[in-house]
Amino acid sequence: MHGFNADTEALGEAILQYVENRMRLHPVPLDGPKTLEELQAVAGNTITAEGMGGLAALKLFGDELAQACLSNDHPRYLSFIPCAPTEAAVMFELIVGASGIYAGSWLEGSGAVFAENVALRWIADLAGLPAEAGGVFVPGGTIGNLSALVTARWAARARRSASGCTAPRPTKVAAQQESHSSIRSACEVMDAQFVGVPGDEHQRLSGDNLRAALEAEGPETFFAVVATAGTTNFGIVDDLGSVAQVCRDYGIWFHVDGAYGGAGLAAPTVRHLFTGIERADSFILDPHKWLFAPFDCCALLYRDPALGRGAHAQKASYLDVLNNAEWNPTEYAIGLTRRARGLPLWFSLATHGTNAYTAAIERTLEVTRFAEAEIVRRPYLEALREADLSVVVFRRHGWESEDYHAWSAEMLREEFAFVVPTSHEGQTVARFAIVNPTTSEDDIAAILDTMA
Ligand SMILES: Cc1ncc(COP(=O)(O)O)c(C=O)c1O
Repeated sequence: MHGFNADTEALGEAILQYVENRMRLHPVPLDGPKTLEELQAVAGNTITAEGMGGLAALKLFGDELAQACLSNDHPRYLSFIPCAPTEAAVMFELIVGASGIYAGSWLEGSGAVFAENVALRWIADLAGLPAEAGGVFVPGGTIGNLSALVTARWAARARRSASGCTAPRPTKVAAQQESHSSIRSACEVMDAQFVGVPGDEHQRLSGDNLRAALEAEGPETFFAVVATAGTTNFGIVDDLGSVAQVCRDYGIWFHVDGAYGGAGLAAPTVRHLFTGIERADSFILDPHKWLFAPFDCCALLYRDPALGRGAHAQKASYLDVLNNAEWNPTEYAIGLTRRARGLPLWFSLATHGTNAYTAAIERTLEVTRFAEAEIVRRPYLEALREADLSVVVFRRHGWESEDYHAWSAEMLREEFAFVVPTSHEGQTVARFAIVNPTTSEDDIAAILDTMA
């Protein structure tokens, strides 16, 4: 089973050919879900005592299983938040898997950790965080938000202990009520209380609304405030500057969830929306969303990484040999064993340079503005609000919920596009999330034509 032989060699060639063939396609097939019965019928029992052989398993995957998985990188995949990695990043993912790297500690993975930290530094610089800022790549925004909030609580407790404070411990987290579900879920995990703050007239969390909510509940009962830099449903960026100021006034941890929108930091046309992020105590950005890295990759950054280490470093006698190292990524988030998931991003950044990233993000913003203009131009459509970033939400006059769902299902059935509806204030509406630079104006127009 282990060792390189003629079978392994043939399998290696076939796998590389598979990857190359897929990358050559434009567009890749959209594909679509199959039922459990359909998959059982075509795949059967794939794990047997004797094994089916690598080439047969690869063929089964390519012919059946892969085709039952939607291609997130299809240019007309505009649902949720898609993932459109660069070819360089995708190919390097193969190398990461093949290199036997443990990227939890400096002792074991210094070269990989060094490179990941360079990529983290680039993101920290985009945000304007200080030179000491640092963190780790975690699997996704959910774990990133949870890890940051655990650190916020740890820091609040440490400060209280140091000052001899005897008042009850703070147990609450404030965020705009439309913030991502992972914030509520983090609060559940931590047995903390989520306090949803109403948005301002632009549906943003702003300093005034936040201050009112903190005062109503008692500011001393909060250990963190979460601002969102790009909400999932609408792409709204909270008023980070005024929120940062209120957090400073009350001495509450300021976390920014830029899982989707944080990539906008690299785009000059929207960079101004992020003013205030440089004051964040912690910040997350998912390169697997709008920064062209493959799943699963979330950059988690702390202004003062020592606090992250205080909250997360695991202590065990067998880990003592790792102490006092340059940088052990595992000490900054939930989880011990970790793969070098930041390396594909690093490799792609090193390959293409940061200007290419700026150009690619700006291209998606250009297509977003085209979509908005087309929605205005077409009398049967209406946008719900102007896009801050690259999410457009709009309604088709005269359609009920079932019309949106039927339209969406038909487009998927034909492998034409994947655009699922969302809802706003109880109404079903259509939504595009445009993070793929290969999505063109023609793609948008073709989808809108189907709503006529
Ligand atoms: C704003 C925001 N925060 C957090 C998350 C959760 O990220 P993940 O799906 O990587 O766990 C998402 C996912 O869409 C998001 O849009």
